[in-house]
Amino acid sequence: MQKKALLHSLFALLFLTVFTQCKDDDVIVEPEPQQPTLTPNEIVQKYLNIDLDDLANYANPVYPAHYDANILATDNAPSLNPVTNAGATLGRVLFFDKKLSLNNETACANCHSPEKGFTDNAVLSQGFNGDLTGKHSMRLANANFYTGEKMFWDKRAEDVEDQVTRPIKDHSEMGFEDAVGGIDSLISKMNKLEYYPVLFKKAFGTETITEFNMKLALAQFVRSMVSTTSKFDDGFAQVFNPAQPGAGVGQPFPNFTPQENQGKQLYLMPPPQGGAGCAGCHNPTTFSLAANSLDNGLDANETVIFKSPSLKNVGITGPYMHDGRFSSLAEVVEHYNSGIIDGPNLDNRLKAPAGGPGGPLQPLRLNLTQQEKDALVAFLQTLTDDKMIADVKFGNPFK
Ligand code: HEC
Ligand code: HEC
Repeated sequence: MQKKALLHSLFALLFLTVFTQCKDDDVIVEPEPQQPTLTPNEIVQKYLNIDLDDLANYANPVYPAHYDANILATDNAPSLNPVTNAGATLGRVLFFDKKLSLNNETACANCHSPEKGFTDNAVLSQGFNGDLTGKHSMRLANANFYTGEKMFWDKRAEDVEDQVTRPIKDHSEMGFEDAVGGIDSLISKMNKLEYYPVLFKKAFGTETITEFNMKLALAQFVRSMVSTTSKFDDGFAQVFNPAQPGAGVGQPFPNFTPQENQGKQLYLMPPPQGGAGCAGCHNPTTFSLAANSLDNGLDANETVIFKSPSLKNVGITGPYMHDGRFSSLAEVVEHYNSGIIDGPNLDNRLKAPAGGPGGPLQPLRLNLTQQEKDALVAFLQTLTDDKMIADVKFGNPFK
């Protein structure tokens, strides 16, 4: 008897709780009569020049013929993170958003500005609080074609995904280091910016913002920065012929000046054949660095084996090398011509046998004439991709 009464009151309690909870829920979901509800697109367009119903095309770019199957096979995009239009669009917003820094001053684009070929012109870059980075900023075009996959000059990041949120957490770059709450404190900040839940939902099917999804989106945006429309590309497209060695890249380009064509030959041919051998490491068509490149002879006793970003857009602005030591391309060419220093990791492509074939290897001396050096620089200038850097899909989306 007593048991039954107890059960009854328990049920009554349960019913009451469920009932009052439902009532609470009802109150919450009831829309405020006066407030007009904005569509996701309207929310986004309050802040951004982005149309969710007509996203820019990142997923299926049209490649010219010289970006053939062999070249596209060198794309380092992991199959788990294919580029989608919504993912890369979110990546673009993250890339240009100064709110991703502690004091709303510094976006990725501050140090990777499209007009400057996705780098900056400082020897070392300034972070959100004025502190300088440890190394010179890197151009980003064709980062997806570095088959070594690792990112940063010293290759300390495993891949693009691993790299892209590190600047946000860096104490001198964007400032969300652990001491100030790290990425979690940034995510609570982002949850209050009404465009982010909408953009994450569009890209990943959920409004929940996670560092993992930020990495995927930023990596998709960075990987979509493929350069296919420089003067070099226009010329290569005209002579492209898969039946020829190098698919015809060694043929004179009809759109080049004689000086640019001479520079191209010097760039492509190895030193024993009268060239400067640059292509042995900075591979055409993408101009990304060969993954097996060793040291390029900047410093004696250097033990770190640095990489180079793709040389696409290299002519837009210096300075050059990981520490920004050279201010012009002429200085870079002079380094390869006369300045290569021997060291424990100096690459064999930058050595030549002393006294002819069979002699002991020593640092290469190209002995180029001034006219040849100028031609090499003129050729490097043809790698500037004005169309790409002016493309709105790589530009600042904020109103
Ligand atoms: C304060 C300047 C600064 C900011 C802000 C910045 N970067 Fe960088 N970035 C650099 C520098 C400097 C390097 C080279 C650093 C090194 O190697 O130690 C670099 C390297 C990179 C690389 C490696 C490229 C390669 O080929 O290895 C990628 C990718 C990159 N940044 C993307 C980003 C993204 C995405 C953001 C925003 C989340 C960002 N950067 C914010 C200065 C900056
Ligand atoms: C053995 C491979 C190798 C060869 C051959 C080579 N380079 Fe490099 N190059 C590198 C490496 C590695 C770096 C990055 C070095 C660093 O910053 O520490 C680099 C950097 C550069 C840079 C600076 C890139 C930047 O973003 O600052 C330019 C420009 C360049 N090389 C042009 C050339 C030219 C022109 C030639 C031919 C005369 C050439 N390279 C030959 C490996 C090579």
